[in-house]
Amino acid sequence: MSHVSAALVILLIYFSVHRFVLTQGNFAQFTVLYFASAKDASKVDTDKFEWSAGINAQTLTNLLVERHPDLGYVLKTSMFAVNMEYMENDSSWTVQPGDEVAIIPPVSGG
Ligand SMILES: *[C@@H]1O[C@H](CO)[C@@H](O)[C@H](O)[C@H]1NC(C)=O
Repeated sequence: MSHVSAALVILLIYFSVHRFVLTQGNFAQFTVLYFASAKDASKVDTDKFEWSAGINAQTLTNLLVERHPDLGYVLKTSMFAVNMEYMENDSSWTVQPGDEVAIIPPVSGG
């Protein structure tokens, strides 16, 4: 085996391992940040969730309430921001691996 083909084999192994880490490891997660009353309800600042395809506003709500039942009420009026950008409460978007999803309750007046 020449040095060139040995290097190619090593590169191929490297990329398959790297790909595995990307799809199976920590990168296949997303982070949730809780603010204000959402933080009070969840009792944590942040969470990590396993990412899977097709997590939209509705399925995200279900995931969050499953982990923190007290969040149910807060989520009815909260907004989602993904990577610091407000998102519609509909199925026009899905969570991507590595996303940072913020739960932003309405600012209470008075
Ligand atoms: C988002 O829409 C769902 C379904 O219409 C509704 O149950 C939920 O309260 C809404 N959430 C927000 C934050 O408006």
